[in-house]
Amino acid sequence: MRLTIVGGPGAGKGTQAPNLCDKLGIPLISVGDILRGAIALQTDLGILARAYVEKGELVPDPTMIQFIRQRLTGPDIGSGWLLDGYPRTAFQAEELDFLLDELGQRLDWAIYLDVPHELLVSRTLARSRADDLPEIVERRIELFQERTIPLVEYYEYKQRLLRIDGRRSVEEVQQDILHQLKAN
Ligand code: AP5
Repeated sequence: MRLTIVGGPGAGKGTQAPNLCDKLGIPLISVGDILRGAIALQTDLGILARAYVEKGELVPDPTMIQFIRQRLTGPDIGSGWLLDGYPRTAFQAEELDFLLDELGQRLDWAIYLDVPHELLVSRTLARSRADDLPEIVERRIELFQERTIPLVEYYEYKQRLLRIDGRRSVEEVQQDILHQLKAN
């Protein structure tokens, strides 16, 4: 199964994704974690991404598209995966579709964790990540609304969207995702 999980900062993507991968037996590709790891190790990707991630800005599309292309064509990638935090822009979504076409694959579902603005803010501010300062969180939410919400509409139009009420407990959200994946 090939999945992506979409949602604003603090929506619960990083909380849900590892458990879902365990249950479904597929690898997790968490773009935010990969970027933070690359920044810590000061790899070429990390050096390039650092200024963007620290300010809550999006890393430029060409860099992310090239990275995902390498990742999804790597030798350890089998018949499925869950992408956390990718795609995030219309260009990334379009390029992902091109890549999957080339590989004779398709994305099965985009899981959208729908969480209101106030809850995105309170959940992220309750954490202590370097990019969780109030003004940076607001910028990340703004970018989510501007750049990523159109993708939710795109996947809905393509009938590939699972909309999940992300306000509920971690367990309830998990059960609902698994239930909807089985039912569809
Ligand atoms: P990324 O790490 O993906 O950040 P994000 O999308 O802003 O998401 P978060 O990690 O803040 O939230 P989450 O939804 O994972 O919530 P979590 O489960 O942690 O990306 C970081 C940066 O990398 C971006 O800002 C950008 O610079 C760059 N980047 C990444 N992808 C990119 C791309 N494709 N293109 C360009 N740039 C890119 O939960 C948050 C908190 O809430 C936790 O404390 C958790 O315990 C709690 N919580 C979760 N669910 C619940 C629940 N149901 N009930 C109660 N509490 C809950």
